[in-house]
Formats: sequence, structure tokens, C-alpha cells
Amino acid sequence: MRKALVAGNWKMNGRAKQNGELISSLLSGLEQQALTESVDVMVFPPSVYVSQVKALAEGSPLGVGAQDLCEHADGAFTGELSAGMLSDCGCAAVLVGHSERRAMFGDTEARVAAKVSAALEQGLVPVLCLGETLEERDAGETLKCVEAQFESAVAGLEAGQIEQLVLAYEPVWAIGTGRTATPQQAQEVHAHLRGLLAGKSAEAAATVRILYGGSVNAKNASELFAQPDIDGGLVGGASLKANDFLAICQAAASS
Ligand code: 13P
Repeated sequence: MRKALVAGNWKMNGRAKQNGELISSLLSGLEQQALTESVDVMVFPPSVYVSQVKALAEGSPLGVGAQDLCEHADGAFTGELSAGMLSDCGCAAVLVGHSERRAMFGDTEARVAAKVSAALEQGLVPVLCLGETLEERDAGETLKCVEAQFESAVAGLEAGQIEQLVLAYEPVWAIGTGRTATPQQAQEVHAHLRGLLAGKSAEAAATVRILYGGSVNAKNASELFAQPDIDGGLVGGASLKANDFLAICQAAASS
């Protein structure tokens, strides 16, 4: 049985004061509702705030991760952050291949694969993000697209490494648009990804969590999480509001 995971991707949002308020509300809500007994909860703040959030979450079950990493180890890569640095600052996981990074910051398939490997080498859980554009969906190429992204990202990995991953299916057309994939549309892709995992290792198919992301909110979360292959959510906008994020965690806890 896979434990649900709800992850909040703050993207480029937050300041120290707001972060403090958000984390404090989240921690008290999680504790009052005993949510982390049945759902793992993580936040992915901008990297400059990882240490702040880590300190605030000290001793709590709230996990902290980063939104991106450099595929290289330490060295002459001005402005970049290595997996070793993120791990040193207390990150347990890192998003890799988010569509915003693929579209705007040159994250090619090769770079995404290198980032996944770099994260694994430092003991970080890569949350590998996959998803089709609207054009690809309209052309009937959704499964082909996510399959190509998945296969390229895991090509150099052994079964034991694939078992460490978290996958996040995020249709590009549903991100920040208020337009969510229907539970059936999402389930179809998640089931396909589960099948691809099974092709690598039965253990990976049984244990790897596949999150849905794209306009998840307090209203639509329950129906999405009720699908057999949706193991939680990667939440953008709604993760910035404590009550909304807690309601999504609650939906995952009761799914
Ligand atoms: P929204 O929930 O704001 O649509 O963002 C989803 C996302 O990109 C999470 O990584």
C-alpha cells in the first residue's frame, strides 16, 4: 500500500515573513488533524528559503525539498546549486523536469536525466515531472509524450534507483490555468506510467508514488485522489494558502 504524498511547489513566491506564517499555520493544522499519520506532506520553497523552512519545521513530520538542482557537482557553475548543497541544507527531495524549467530554462531530456542521477547520487528523492502540452493532447499524443519523457529520464538508472523516484504527472495545459485534467484523464496517464514502471521492476510499480499536478484545489482533490493510480498531488497556487493546502492534505488522507 502506497502512502499518499502531498507536495507544495511554492514556485517563485514567498518572503521570510509570509513563509513563517504559512509554515506555522500548516504545522498546527497538520498536528491538530493528525494528517501525517496517513499522508506524507512536503513543501518546496525557493532554495534561498530552504534553511528557514527547515528550521521552522524542525522536529515535525513536514518534509522540505528544492525546486531544481544543477546536474553538475561543485565547481564553476555560477548561480547554480548542486545536489550536495541541497542535501547539506536538509532537503529530502528535489523537483526535476518541471514544465516551467523545460519550457523556460533549457531543461532538455538529457539534462533532466542528468539531474535525476545527480539527485539520486546525493540521496535526494527526485520528483520527476512529466506532462504533455495542449497541442500534444489534441494530437492524441499524450501517452507517447509522457512515455518518451519517462524513458529518457530513467534510461541510465538501475531498477533499485527507479524505485526511489516519485513521479508527478502535470499536464502543461492544466498548470496555473484553473483547468484541471478530469480524474479519468489523469488516471489514464497514471495507469500508463504505472505500466512503464512495471516494465522496469515490479517493486517500482508497487511502491513508486505518482502524483497529479495542475490546478489541484480543495474542491477537486478528493475526486482526483480517489483514482487507483493517483497517489497524491503536486500543488502550486493552492499550496500558498494554509487552509487550502491543509484541505488537500485532508483529501489525500481520506482517499
Ligand atoms: P498549479 O497548482 O498552480 O496549477 O501548479 C501546478 C504545478 O506546477 C505544481 O508543480
